[in-house]
Amino acid sequence: MAGRMQKVSPIGYDKIDTEHFTIVEVMARIQTCIESQEWGVVRVASARLISEMMRHFEDEEQLMALRSYPMIEQHQRNHDCARACLSRFEREIDQTTPSEPAVRRCFGELAKIIHHEITDDDPRFVAHLKMLER
Ligand SMILES: [Fe+2]
Ligand SMILES: [Fe+2]
Repeated sequence: MAGRMQKVSPIGYDKIDTEHFTIVEVMARIQTCIESQEWGVVRVASARLISEMMRHFEDEEQLMALRSYPMIEQHQRNHDCARACLSRFEREIDQTTPSEPAVRRCFGELAKIIHHEITDDDPRFVAHLKMLER
């Protein structure tokens, strides 16, 4: 993939920021272990990533519904892309001998989707939350 996982800039909503920070941290660890082909560690860290990400998306989706966010469908589509990408990634790393290029490709796709989540979809949603607070 192009470059490392970027640092997270906070978007100003503590719960979401904390979860993003954890997700990016776990992804950085996974990336390092893909490079050294430590598949056992990749699998353990990925199980953590999957549970963190699933919980995060569910929380956001609940909050979007609760706050009648008008762009919920578009936002949810990106979450669904991430979920689909995660299961492809899981399939790749669950092979007896994972193919490093295939794992990298999948992980790169996931990183792109998460980057979009953190820098585009979520800031827009947080702007909506802040508007309601005013
Ligand atoms: Fe998010
Ligand atoms: Fe999101």
